[in-house]
Amino acid sequence: MGQKNDAEKLILTRSEDAELLRLATAGSVDDGKSTLIGRLLYEANGLYEDQLASVRQDSGRFKREELDLSLVMDGLKAEREQGITIDVAYRYFSTPKRNFIIADTPGHEQYTRNMATGASTADLAIILIDARHGLLPQSKRHAFIASLLGIRHMVVAVNKMDLVHYSEEIFRKIEKDFTNFSEKLRISDLLYIPISALKGDNVVRRSPNMPWYEGPALLSHLENVHVTSDRNLIDLRLPVQYVLRPNMDFRGYCGRLAGGVIRKGDEILILPSQQRSRVKSLVTYEKEVPYAFTPQSITVTLEDNVDITRGDMLVHPGNLPQIRREIEAILVWMDQKPLQAGRIYWIKHTSQLLKGSVTQLHFKINPEDLGRQKTKDFKLNEIGRVTIQLFRSIFCDEYTKNRETGSFIMIDPVTHATVAAGTLIERGRLPAATKEKKHKTISLHRQEGSIAPKDRERILKQKPATLWLTGLSGSGKSSIAFALEKRLMAEGHLCYVLDGDNVRHGLNKDLGFSPQDRSENIRRVAEVANLFNDAGILVMTAFISPYREDREQAKQIIGEDRFLEIFVDAPVEVCKKRDPKRLYEKAEAGLIPEFTGVNAPYEVPLTSAVHLKTDQEDLNACLQKILDLLRSRGFLKGKD
Ligand code: ADX
Repeated sequence: MGQKNDAEKLILTRSEDAELLRLATAGSVDDGKSTLIGRLLYEANGLYEDQLASVRQDSGRFKREELDLSLVMDGLKAEREQGITIDVAYRYFSTPKRNFIIADTPGHEQYTRNMATGASTADLAIILIDARHGLLPQSKRHAFIASLLGIRHMVVAVNKMDLVHYSEEIFRKIEKDFTNFSEKLRISDLLYIPISALKGDNVVRRSPNMPWYEGPALLSHLENVHVTSDRNLIDLRLPVQYVLRPNMDFRGYCGRLAGGVIRKGDEILILPSQQRSRVKSLVTYEKEVPYAFTPQSITVTLEDNVDITRGDMLVHPGNLPQIRREIEAILVWMDQKPLQAGRIYWIKHTSQLLKGSVTQLHFKINPEDLGRQKTKDFKLNEIGRVTIQLFRSIFCDEYTKNRETGSFIMIDPVTHATVAAGTLIERGRLPAATKEKKHKTISLHRQEGSIAPKDRERILKQKPATLWLTGLSGSGKSSIAFALEKRLMAEGHLCYVLDGDNVRHGLNKDLGFSPQDRSENIRRVAEVANLFNDAGILVMTAFISPYREDREQAKQIIGEDRFLEIFVDAPVEVCKKRDPKRLYEKAEAGLIPEFTGVNAPYEVPLTSAVHLKTDQEDLNACLQKILDLLRSRGFLKGKD
């Protein structure tokens, strides 16, 4: 951020005590937006004269004349962070009751883009409508975007009332039109105020020119609207922005709380490494504090020496965000160049910057009537629903639960322009299939047999489990699984191996190696393993299963108590040397796309029950470890 002005400085030093309201304004200069912002700054700062005066003396820069209404808005700042440009200028002002930040989003043509980026952290949006023109499509679009972004409070400021003779009839007509439209949106708090930004009617003081209006003036509404309860103070989410190491003895993790409250002494889980530690101290503005809450910026020190880098997230154990590599989102497209499915973009999500691409465009939404329409691309200012594949997992929540961890922006990797803003929504896995399934479940009923699991356990002398072997191609999964099968069968245990190459010849022969297909591969295998386990049989699965999320889903399908994840670990160099099927050779020659370890990712397990290092341990040692685990957990009952 550039140089701070005096009001801003004052607010930043006060912001720990006083409540802050983040405002977004939507409307064009023609609607009187600059004039309104100018007047709010001018009049509010007037109200706050005493405190400003001292700051003014300090700096000597703050002159009254500079506050000349719309001129205040000149010279907009462009912010650059890592080559990302967002055309939002932040204006700061205060009244004795509250501090305010206005995200001012300039520009005529790119209003959607500017609106979406500026409004994304706002508590309240002011939609400006020119009383002479009535409700235009653009205002509907603004209201739609604001509601998409989860802004719960909205003020429709019907401006230029002085130019329509302060006519109640005109105001009521706009109010009625907007209400008709907004019923389809989810806005929990909506207020209409007739104003004249130029003349000052109903901006700071109730206007004698409109005695028929009985509501508050704009500023008093802004001072009193209750927003604290909008914030998520339950789920701790602290994305690490940077690691502070001024000297060898101090290591602090800095970031802005994206959710929840953090306290000294709290137990902390670090994602993605899943290491645990406790909060040793919390520092804001160079002062130690016992706790901090969203949206404060904070530096945390921990009791243990753990390895944390930018992009990691601190959470409370037992309250984890979702860990996702495939996301469903509503996307607001903001670039002249249309969205290209399959093209790689940069995605900025909390403090992470990673690559991803849109794999499906489900539909676009017409902001005027909120109708859905099939589409092959999104053009400038279009909005719709998409599926995005990411190159790495992100730690996120649905947008309705957390606006920060539930939103992201997309950046063109070549031009570095922000091309889209997105909000995460509940993922309907494979939408068409899910719909169908819903239909069926209504007419389907589970049938229970009369054989209890205990009966099977008694006969088979074993408690069923699925040993889920995961690892790179060539790491040794199949060899271990089949050797284990042989050993267990020799001991009289009934078991069965589900192997990637085999299952892909039958049940899953319709599937390839895209992330979605792999996901479906794993889902089906998990369902089969689950049935085998129900039948009392021990199952070994040998699938690369490269994605954590898919393995997590498998665990849910099979059941946590009988799912044992076994990481068959060998460095990719070792696997390449082994290359039993000469697949690495082909993949490196460019003959196999999306080959795990070469041009597709493998996400190492974070919580495996057994970790086998097949480059260091021989087959027997590996088998012994697994058998020990099965015995210690009581899956193999002794023979009588
Ligand atoms: S998974 O990723 O969906 O779990 P799975 O274990 O079923 O993969 O299949 C992996 C096997 O398929 C490998 O051992 C290899 O023989 C073969 N294969 C063919 N193409 C690929 C590919 N692009 N990536 C990984 N394995 C592949």
